[in-house]
Amino acid sequence: MTVKLALLGAGRIGQVHARAISGIGGAALVAVADPLEAAASTVAHEYNCRVASIDEIAGIEDLDGVLICTPTNTHADLIERFARLGKAVFCEKPVDLDLQRVKACLEVVREAGAPLMLGFNRRFDPHFAAVRKAIVDGKVGAVEQVSITARDPGLPPFEYIDVSGGIFRDMTIHDFDIARFLLGEEISGVQATASVLVDPRVAEHDDFDTVTVVMTTADGKQCTIQNSRRATYGYDQRLEVFGSAGMLTAENQRPVSIELANSEGFTRPQLHDFFMTRYMDAYAAEIRAFVRTISEGTSPCPAGEDGLFALALAEAAIKSVEEGRKVQVSEVLST
Ligand SMILES: NC(=O)c1ccc[n+]([C@@H]2O[C@H](COP(=O)([O-])OP(=O)(O)OC[C@H]3O[C@@H](n4cnc5c(N)ncnc54)[C@H](O)[C@@H]3O)[C@@H](O)[C@H]2O)c1
Repeated sequence: MTVKLALLGAGRIGQVHARAISGIGGAALVAVADPLEAAASTVAHEYNCRVASIDEIAGIEDLDGVLICTPTNTHADLIERFARLGKAVFCEKPVDLDLQRVKACLEVVREAGAPLMLGFNRRFDPHFAAVRKAIVDGKVGAVEQVSITARDPGLPPFEYIDVSGGIFRDMTIHDFDIARFLLGEEISGVQATASVLVDPRVAEHDDFDTVTVVMTTADGKQCTIQNSRRATYGYDQRLEVFGSAGMLTAENQRPVSIELANSEGFTRPQLHDFFMTRYMDAYAAEIRAFVRTISEGTSPCPAGEDGLFALALAEAAIKSVEEGRKVQVSEVLST
């Protein structure tokens, strides 16, 4: 069976996923839609598929699934449309910036019975996945503390910040998902602090550029997340898991992994410059998992509900900053 897929949105991440599909034996990209003609035809030319409108794609009867890689404010409508058609849906994070809209969208997906997988690519990073496997295999005993560091090399454009939903919903959301992935039990409490330290203009755009989040599970397991929109030394992506029987660390990755030792000391090459190269293997693995969901009929993971919980943690962090207190996740989920 060849899994037939269509790509909605042929921008930065859409192109990454188109490349991933081309590397999977049992899958084919059959169509691409993007209002930017140049973006759509570049992908169509490179991956030998046709340019089509969203309506035309919705009419392809033997289509198995779609990858939604359009701007965030279009995700929920597109998920609902293709789920109602019975297609498998892979959607980039987040489902929506509004928790109620996410809940309503997931209800439609449930009713339709269509598989929905969320683009939390970091779960598929081979290093982070190996950490998770070691936890499951009991290598560190009972997990007690998780520390996640994620720093971007530089600020995104201000036009992007304006539509991003803010650092917690846009950037930390990946770390919220990884925290849940590693802790293995739901987070109940969130305390966050947020500052503008990188560029004062970020405040004019109603956002923060430097945040720390401390979270706890019902059993008292702890997790800290540190984010910055600026790291002079590259894309800083590390994590550590401390447990009753040991510790696991996933260090920063480099495109070239060598170390030079000489009379001046020890030097190593630069880190990856951003997510497109750092998480290349993760993106490929997540699309392979989506294709397997279709070809083997397995449950999608991460699923829509993972998107809901990650957004709820973002909402709890925002509320914590606004009100200067620890917020229970149940407070935001019950509204
Ligand atoms: N998982 C990750 O690591 C990751 C990384 C980057 C972006 N994203 C997410 O992916 C989404 C897209 O981000 P991007 O950086 O690729 O943006 P982008 O602006 O580079 O690409 C979006 C593309 O969608 C097209 N588009 C707009 N409306 C459309 C529609 N109705 N139908 C079809 N195409 C449409 C645009 O013309 C553009 O080419 C965002 O939701 C973002 O949060 C996730």
